[in-house]
Amino acid sequence: MNVTEALATRMSCRAFLPTPVPGTTVRAILEAARQSPSGGNLQPWHVHALAGDPLAEIVRLVRGKLPAQPRGEEPEYDIYPRELWEPYRSRRYKCGEDLYATIGVAREDKFGRLLQFARNYEFFGAPVGLFFCLDRRMGPPQWADLGMYMQSVMLLAREHGLHTCAQEAWSVWHRTVGEFLGLPPELMLFAGMALGYRDETAPINGLRTERAPLGEFATLRGF
Ligand SMILES: Cc1cc2nc3c(=O)[nH]c(=O)nc-3n(C[C@H](O)[C@H](O)[C@H](O)COP(=O)(O)O)c2cc1C
Repeated sequence: MNVTEALATRMSCRAFLPTPVPGTTVRAILEAARQSPSGGNLQPWHVHALAGDPLAEIVRLVRGKLPAQPRGEEPEYDIYPRELWEPYRSRRYKCGEDLYATIGVAREDKFGRLLQFARNYEFFGAPVGLFFCLDRRMGPPQWADLGMYMQSVMLLAREHGLHTCAQEAWSVWHRTVGEFLGLPPELMLFAGMALGYRDETAPINGLRTERAPLGEFATLRGF
């Protein structure tokens, strides 16, 4: 598989098979992703990989808290700007609508949407859950570095026949996750990521999101 194929076949997988992923594979992916660039070579990423009992335990912990705190804990960062503007607002809306349409959950079905959203906190059934953290004193450039590391993980996963779903949803449980992982106070949770084998029969995995044409965001000069 080349980079173009890895990019073209990466999608957010939201239903996984229980098939375990060998620890050697997870290690190989996280190790190869170290080659991601970072400003000043700071390599500001920190990652925790869970499988088996530890994974089941964090899922159980959050599931137990969800009924009383459906919105999670006090957020540490805004996932989106407070008031999204065009064209981002419509893109976000469409992404949500298209996602719920794959599983036949209507807009009015708030409970159905909540139930599906809660699947985030089970890593969508994936046998591996990753948590990506960085030092809270870091700024936007280092957040971008962490994003590059995550993208490397997602592309390398494809090379191993695996799929992923990046999950900012986990950030609202940063306190619970932080305590569980024993994060030092300076480290903050950015996102989780599900990793595993895609369930090819799950309708939700049929979603293919659109991208704006090049002309909408790129300017080329002098060619
Ligand atoms: C940093 C990041 C966080 C994300 N968080 C979530 C999440 O919490 N739950 C979810 O279902 N999808 C999440 N996504 C997936 C996006 O919705 C998805 O990447 C986008 O709609 C494009 O679709 P695609 O990944 O299938 O190409 C996240 C993606 C990124 C890059």
